[in-house]
Amino acid sequence: MTIGISDLAFATAHRVLDLQQLADHQGIDVGKYYIGIGQSEMSIPAADEDIVTMGAQAAAQILARHGADGIRTLLFATESGIDQSKSAGVFVHGLLGMGAHCRVVELKQACYSATAALQFALGIVARDASEKVLVIASDVARYALDTSGEPTQGAAAVAFLVTADPALLEVEPVTGVHTDDIHDFWRPNYLSTALVDGKYSLAAYLGALEAAWGEYQARGGVAFDEIARFCYHQPFTKMAVKAHDRLCRIVGSDLDRDQRRAQIDASLELNRRTGNSYTASIYVGLLSLLERDPDELAGRRIGFFSYGSGSVSEFFTGIVQPGYRDLLRTAADAASLDDRRPIDYPRYRALHESVDAVQGSDYETAAETSGPFRFAGVVDHVRRYQRRD
Ligand code: CAA
Repeated sequence: MTIGISDLAFATAHRVLDLQQLADHQGIDVGKYYIGIGQSEMSIPAADEDIVTMGAQAAAQILARHGADGIRTLLFATESGIDQSKSAGVFVHGLLGMGAHCRVVELKQACYSATAALQFALGIVARDASEKVLVIASDVARYALDTSGEPTQGAAAVAFLVTADPALLEVEPVTGVHTDDIHDFWRPNYLSTALVDGKYSLAAYLGALEAAWGEYQARGGVAFDEIARFCYHQPFTKMAVKAHDRLCRIVGSDLDRDQRRAQIDASLELNRRTGNSYTASIYVGLLSLLERDPDELAGRRIGFFSYGSGSVSEFFTGIVQPGYRDLLRTAADAASLDDRRPIDYPRYRALHESVDAVQGSDYETAAETSGPFRFAGVVDHVRRYQRRD
């Protein structure tokens, strides 16, 4: 029996800031963003959107195709949770009208936890092949205004279904993991924006890649040359380029620049436009790769490096399944990006500041967006959501 991902769906927020707007405000050359960090836009949630509305929108696509029968576990991965106690997944479970006989839990370890959810899901299905696990990864990446992290914000969600005999990607059993108690990026409970030691975080990411790859090899992982494409956590797309160059150096690969880029370029296209989506970003990268790579990938192996600051990381691999193209929603995913409403710098700044302004009090949000789910506001400290059918 093989186990892996049977379907993978995407959602993002309904507002977008072109990084030209940010560069103009800062009076700098936008080349630093478009080329230097490899980002062109950031998805920005409107006031009536959050990780629940994005996660529900992604998961609804999975349920529309497969139904909810057999899904007894829903794992919600996020590092921008909306409650200190209740899982965001329970809100989604309610919005989607899923059956009561389902365990739902939220997982946190910076950008890594969606990969933890995948690995836990594989274990559940290995024990009982009739089980299906719905994994949702949804995040809003927020840094303080006027900081160096600001151009690496963003928002997106993915949902994927983990089953036996997967139709999209078989996940192979060998992995390499690595944990190190560091402070490269973190968010204390009293802050709505992340703190980061920028340059140190890049070095920590690359060091973790070397360590996780080393354990993957020690545990019998395949050689670098047996992996056709690579998919990295993408806080900004240039990070994946740096990571792949580093891995090529570690293994002594003689691939030239164009050959190295051909192994990752398609995986960068969606993230370049959503911005950082923390836990979702590596799986947005997988979707981008499957949708945008010009080559037929069926039967070919993808290598994944998942990194969550703090830090926990994992290297693993998967085999793309025959017929995978039939499962993709390529046009709809492109429309999700193209249909976002552009906002200017003052509107972006007002939305950013509004997050802290409303904390702790009851409020209603205006119906700004027209997506299938919206965040309606807070009453008696309870978050209220609406589904539009
Ligand atoms: N044209 C083209 N390129 C330009 C340019 C121009 N006009 N101006 C600058 N650049 C290039 C620079 O040369 C540099 O490229 P290299 O890194 O290849 O040398 C790049 O643009 C960025 O310039 P700086 O290093 O000067 O940028 P910065 O100091 O303002 O900050 C950053 C960059 C550290 C990534 C910052 O955006 C940041 O702190 N981001 C958040 C932290 C982060 O994402 N860390 C990643 C690892 S941690 C992680 O992965 C978890 C997570 O999700 C956060």
